[in-house]
Amino acid sequence: GFSATMPRGFEIGVSTAAFQIEGAVRDDGRGPSTWDEFMGQPGRIADGSNASVATDHYHRYREDVALMKELGVDSYRFSLAWPRIQPGGVGGPNRAGIQFYDRLIDELLAAGIKPMATLFHWDMPEPLQHRGGWMLRDTASRFADFAIIAGEAFGDRVDKWVTINEPTTVTLNGYALGIHAPGATLMFDSLISAHHQLLGHGLAVQALRSVGVKGGIGISNVHSPVHPAKDNMKTRAYAELFDIIHNRIFADPVLLGHYPKFPLLSRKLFKPLIEVDAADLRTIAQPLDFYGLNYYMPSRIGSGAPNDDATPDGSAESVRELPFHLRPWPEFPTTGFGWPIAPEFLTETLNDYATRYEGVLPPVYITEGGASFDDVVADDGSVDDANRASYLADHVSAAFAGVEGVDVRGYYVWTLLDNWEWAAGFEQRFGLIHVNDQTQERTPKRSYHWLQKVLRART
Ligand code: FCB
Repeated sequence: GFSATMPRGFEIGVSTAAFQIEGAVRDDGRGPSTWDEFMGQPGRIADGSNASVATDHYHRYREDVALMKELGVDSYRFSLAWPRIQPGGVGGPNRAGIQFYDRLIDELLAAGIKPMATLFHWDMPEPLQHRGGWMLRDTASRFADFAIIAGEAFGDRVDKWVTINEPTTVTLNGYALGIHAPGATLMFDSLISAHHQLLGHGLAVQALRSVGVKGGIGISNVHSPVHPAKDNMKTRAYAELFDIIHNRIFADPVLLGHYPKFPLLSRKLFKPLIEVDAADLRTIAQPLDFYGLNYYMPSRIGSGAPNDDATPDGSAESVRELPFHLRPWPEFPTTGFGWPIAPEFLTETLNDYATRYEGVLPPVYITEGGASFDDVVADDGSVDDANRASYLADHVSAAFAGVEGVDVRGYYVWTLLDNWEWAAGFEQRFGLIHVNDQTQERTPKRSYHWLQKVLRART
């Protein structure tokens, strides 16, 4: 069966982000983040909820680690809340913040689970956001300072480091379209935020190495294979543009040391990226120990303004002002978010990487993948999510089957617990474990038991 075909040593983990699970936003000296600010603004969050309690993981981390141990995962990817560790984003560390992650990491190690720590999963300290956040070049250096603090505190125990999670999403949803924090609607003027994140990534890699962390270092980029909805020149051109904006701006500089070649007609839009310093690109292209890929879905691009049949999810929103839009993909079933379920496009993602980054791609981990569904909760709180289990079976096997030219070493399921899904609030449940919003009670779903069986059957 499934477990027998999984290569020996293929790493299975679960993935989370601090802001989505921790809560305790005022505890032990944590400072506000841009998301604290954003979630308080009217109309920003689909269900009007906020993450000030979230899944209360800050107080329940022991229980959550115990659930991971029971599950049998090899590793756990979590993020370090910058505003907990360095509340204002400058100056010395907040001891209590460091101590929380000390306890978490020690608990993981005692459970035999390898910690993978992400430095930035979107919770920018509010004072830095106030000055301009990633629109400001100086933020890259502030981020490197934070990396030094984190590296010094946890570098002896963290097995893998991820600098930044999905800079794509931060630039597109946060700075271009305003559907994520900080809510800016700068459209193409947001592009420099991509460069500053990438520069922050490169400086953080150097910073972590300078303090001698023991673990490997990488980045997590999200990739979506892009297809034109119609085979005509215009639609193909828009599809290429979307591929550049969504995928290549973020991957090419890291792996190839330069931005992609921009199509002649859109060169003006990309001017800020064309004019960057060669020295910046050298910083960005630090050699990496691994490359993290988040894969959720492919993108099908149509030309013209979005119309009524556009997918009813955040990603359709996310191109609403552009001369092209995401089109539904009727031949695939969809998740709760309306995202097409298409494991063959994880294979295509790997093929894209094999072709584009031949000879320069370090070992790859799928650092996120998973699905939200409208889970039906039985009276006892249990959830029979056969759909999520089959989503994971198909995607995990696509990952370990791999493609020639890419060394895929593992898959991290998004996510351990139903949590606060950014602008969707509590409306989208992605967890292997159901969380009762009122009582915080955790109930493993069928997908959890499925994965547990798979992991136990490994030889
Ligand atoms: C990814 C994010 C993660 C979560 C999943 C569903 O883009 O990295 O925090 O929101 O999508």
